[in-house]
Amino acid sequence: TASPEFAGKKILVTAGGTIEPIDPVRYIGNRSSGKMGYALARNAAKRGGAVTLISGPTGLAAPEAVEVIRVETAAQMRTAVLTRFADADIIIKAAAVADYRPREVAPQKIKKAGEVLSITLEKNPDILTELGQIKRQRQILVGFAAETQNLIDNAREKIVRKNLDMIVANNVTLPGAGFNTDTNIVKLLYKDGNIEDLPKMSKDEVARIILDKIHQYCQTAY
Ligand code: PMT
Repeated sequence: TASPEFAGKKILVTAGGTIEPIDPVRYIGNRSSGKMGYALARNAAKRGGAVTLISGPTGLAAPEAVEVIRVETAAQMRTAVLTRFADADIIIKAAAVADYRPREVAPQKIKKAGEVLSITLEKNPDILTELGQIKRQRQILVGFAAETQNLIDNAREKIVRKNLDMIVANNVTLPGAGFNTDTNIVKLLYKDGNIEDLPKMSKDEVARIILDKIHQYCQTAY
């Protein structure tokens, strides 16, 4: 029998949202459940890949035969990803990384006081942009784009600016797409300008198709 298609490939997947602490009991987060990234990790491992999943906090169990590294903040996710990037053949970034974090983390629980409370945020590093800058030939870098408007234009801009091979664009305002659903509706954009439109399907099916495309791309692109 033929060996599984990702045999011998090291695959790095990120999933879930990062959380950014405000004080010891509060944080800023987003609605990512991790389902999309976990489906990618599970299917990549089933197809023979050596998969490492770097995950923000989720309620999901570790997929079978996947090494899971749990992180909370964007800074922790960045360190975990950068440590393993050089070794990886395929990198898929499904995580919803916080773009900003509170500038100061209060050492004690912030007490209820005035009518208004302001929290100053500062920018987090963009992990995917950094990866695009240090990416080697033959490494395949796949990003996601979560958009609420101008899906194609915004995704195209990200594929170029972040030096990606492929981007999975989801309009997260559509019912059955995006955050914390069991289904997704995505468009796949490639760096050569091609676009493929997928209908609504389970995140598991979306993951399988993304992996089919990556496998084809491995065969032809280098
Ligand atoms: O987890 P689920 O509930 O299943 O939901 C799935 C999902 C909606 C989270 C997923 O399909 C998705 O769209 N993930 C990307 C979410 C996102 O943060 O998109 P973005 O357009 O803001 O970022 C673009 C890309 O840059 C992403 O690959 C992201 O991982 C990366 N990024 C963004 C900011 C940052 N500071 N560092 C990054 O690496």
